Amino acid sequence: MDNQRRLRVGVIGLNMGQWHAETYKNLPNADLVAVCDKDAGWLEHCRTKWDVPNTFTDYREMVAMPDLDAVSVALPTFLHLSVALAAFEQGKHVLMEKPMAMNATEGEQMAEAARSAGKTLMISLNQRFDPDVQFLKRYIEEGNLGEIYCARTLWRRPLGGLPASTLDRPTGVYTGRNWFNEAAKGGGALRDLGAHVIDVAMWLMGFPELQDAVGRTYTKFISEGAPASPADADDHSVGFARFTNGASLQIEASFGQHIDHDELITEVFGTKGGALRWSGRPPKLYGQTGGAYSTTEPRLQERKSGPQQEFVNSILEGRPPLVRPEHGIAVTRIMDAIFAGSSTASP
Ligand SMILES: NC(=O)c1ccc[n+]([C@@H]2O[C@H](COP(=O)([O-])OP(=O)(O)OC[C@H]3O[C@@H](n4cnc5c(N)ncnc54)[C@H](O)[C@@H]3O)[C@@H](O)[C@H]2O)c1
Repeated sequence: MDNQRRLRVGVIGLNMGQWHAETYKNLPNADLVAVCDKDAGWLEHCRTKWDVPNTFTDYREMVAMPDLDAVSVALPTFLHLSVALAAFEQGKHVLMEKPMAMNATEGEQMAEAARSAGKTLMISLNQRFDPDVQFLKRYIEEGNLGEIYCARTLWRRPLGGLPASTLDRPTGVYTGRNWFNEAAKGGGALRDLGAHVIDVAMWLMGFPELQDAVGRTYTKFISEGAPASPADADDHSVGFARFTNGASLQIEASFGQHIDHDELITEVFGTKGGALRWSGRPPKLYGQTGGAYSTTEPRLQERKSGPQQEFVNSILEGRPPLVRPEHGIAVTRIMDAIFAGSSTASP
């Protein structure tokens, strides 16, 4: 790595983007030089908090800044493509929040713009950096599961925590969060929660090529948390994906259903063994001893890295990032097929 170089980074969208900004502030090889949010009062609050030299309410002006190398984009999903295209046009690297885009076609457009600009596009699928997931990836890469032929992945929540359409801030009430409840703006459980767990499963499975997927989405409760309208996004979705190598993946994502606790599970099975990642508990490994059931509980380690560190390091080291555009597209393609409810993957 070029130890002398530091990356000049900006953050667009300052809710989830706060985590990006704070992380950049603490990185040894990055400088947070600009922040952007259309809520001017909140923008000023954030500028003071992090002592940022440049602020913008219009992302187009921010990406045109000459002394800026890269941006994190943490905006509602329907805005991702247009902001990425503007950033690549101005020669900036982009760390894009998940889900990458509204659909795989948009994802491909975004990836093509990055390629043409010769800039890095990384997707902020942060569960990849979870120490348990990292441990399981290494364990699988060592060949301990044999040939992986099926997997199950889910993130589901009990009723009571459906996305609210407003957020109280010290500078006033932010009323822009109803997009989480709107299908046309990229809301819903599948895109919000499903994107993470599909990515984790696909990564552990080695990103097999999608053959087809079916699914069904439900909108039963979402309006309970959303006095604003529309509230037409999915609050519960199920899917089943098949891959050209014969493997398959069961998927479930829910903002609220009749269960009693939050569950986050990815289970992967191969010819030599199985592995389970679940809800903050140590991973479980099955079948290591002659087919007998056995459990190993590796010590949970500290998180060593995250999307922002990986984004900055990959650019400075001149290598592809851990979460590449084609991964974001593959995840989005499975979601497209579930939304279509069809038996074929969307374009
Ligand atoms: N990686 C994760 O775990 C994770 C968690 C939460 C959200 N996200 C993703 O982050 C993205 C943002 O989600 P969020 O929860 O922060 O959304 P949010 O609606 O709570 O916040 C969006 C912020 O962007 C600002 N904004 C909206 N439109 C703008 C525009 N045109 N120009 C400038 N600023 C604008 C809003 O004022 C607000 O401060 C989404 O893609 C979401 O899926 C990822």
